[in-house]
Amino acid sequence: MPPKRILICDDEEEILRYLGKILISQGYGVESFSRGAQLLRRLETGDEGDADLLLQDVRMPDMDGVTVLREAKRLRPSLPVIIMTAFGTIDDAVGAIRLGAYDYVTKPFPKEKILALLEKALEREVLIRENRALREELIKGRTTSPIIFRSSRFKELYDLTLQVAGSDANILITGESGTGKELIAAALHQHSPRNGKRLLSINCAALTDTLLESQLFGHLRGAFTGAVESRKGLLEEAHGGTLFLDEIGDMSPAIQAKLLRVVQEREFLPVGATRPKVVDVRFLAATNKELEQEIRNGRFREDLYYRLNVITLQLPPLRERPEDVEPLARHFLERSARRMNREIVGIHPMALTILESYPWPGNVRELENVMERAVILTRGGEIESGALPLKLSTLGSPDSGGDDLLASLESVELAHIRRILDRTGFHKSRSSEILGISRKTLDRKIAEYGIRLPCNQE
Ligand SMILES: Nc1ncnc2c1ncn2[C@@H]1O[C@H](COP(=O)(O)OP(=O)(O)OP(=O)(O)O)[C@@H](O)[C@H]1O
Ligand SMILES: [Mg+2]
Repeated sequence: MPPKRILICDDEEEILRYLGKILISQGYGVESFSRGAQLLRRLETGDEGDADLLLQDVRMPDMDGVTVLREAKRLRPSLPVIIMTAFGTIDDAVGAIRLGAYDYVTKPFPKEKILALLEKALEREVLIRENRALREELIKGRTTSPIIFRSSRFKELYDLTLQVAGSDANILITGESGTGKELIAAALHQHSPRNGKRLLSINCAALTDTLLESQLFGHLRGAFTGAVESRKGLLEEAHGGTLFLDEIGDMSPAIQAKLLRVVQEREFLPVGATRPKVVDVRFLAATNKELEQEIRNGRFREDLYYRLNVITLQLPPLRERPEDVEPLARHFLERSARRMNREIVGIHPMALTILESYPWPGNVRELENVMERAVILTRGGEIESGALPLKLSTLGSPDSGGDDLLASLESVELAHIRRILDRTGFHKSRSSEILGISRKTLDRKIAEYGIRLPCNQE
């Protein structure tokens, strides 16, 4: 077998020399680059398969490291990348992994560490290639994601969802951002007699009026500048099925008036047309705004509101159903671990306590992000509190709510220890001095609470 070819990109000559020496002694082929632009040119002009792995510094002088990574991934989607970071740039590393880097390593690193990581990444590449076809099948089979809950609050809502799904009534789904409105809309369609037809959705907040109108109603050729072809709108495409109008609270009055006509009369005019079209569509709408307030302020039509809101499904915020945090966290943990090929089996009890006592302003979406980040940062088999963002356990800061008064002594202690460790750059002796405890006690508490230290401090 020809030697595996490793590309290294780092502006520090010393690192290039150090890595080059180690890798060559292990029988790897090495190419070094001190500029991001150089590396990209090499990837662009080379052939797929002429490099097996890229080791890249996250901070580059000529180009932002994230840009280099993004470009490298665009040019070579399957090239595994290991990011090198300086201590204290964990967020860079997390961002890099979201962009598709395989892993990261904090400088300075011992020889054994980088070699082990390389070997794992290269091995995994082979496995991936072998399994690619199989995995694609799996992903295809898993189109709808499961709805996870344990609380009776959510169960009530879910039961109601199933109950009303079978009717043909229009339904308004309300709730704070990230509570699962889109997921409920999908469940409604799936459990309705229309499930053999399409569920289409459109985000009313993301488009300008002109675009939203032509997307919804379609247009005839020449209806406006740029309309070179006639185009069917979503209403027509969804005929027989369901149309999900997301962020309906952001729809302008002009479009609201046109929509009312379809909801009421089941007919509409494509842009530029003179003869109306008839459709049979069930409407689901979602919003995180208080529509009644919007009506009072003259921003939302009352008649449209009553047409869309035959039944309301109101999603409770996550903080009002803390029992759901654990099953959701485990679900997201399993999913991320599977995607990233990590073997993480559990959540440390202290980490779970932190998750359960946080108010989750971003609701389930925020929890999903926190768990994804935690999986990236976790090295062992269990998510520990150190892999959670500091803000989750920073109780007692001036901007946090009154709920802190109910925090346990343990969680306050944990939060304080983490804050001090963070401030001292994880300097244990300095931290124990500030905390007024012995170094040994600090070590014990770090172990007890499962506080994770950055790799090179361990
Ligand atoms: N009960 C749940 N079980 C599993 N996943 C969930 C659940 N609730 C929400 N999610 C996930 O959380 C994320 C946010 O959910 P969703 O997009 O449905 O929220 P939303 O209410 O539409 O938010 P927004 O108002 O910001 O659009 C999605 O990735 C969704 O899959
Ligand atoms: Mg949504």
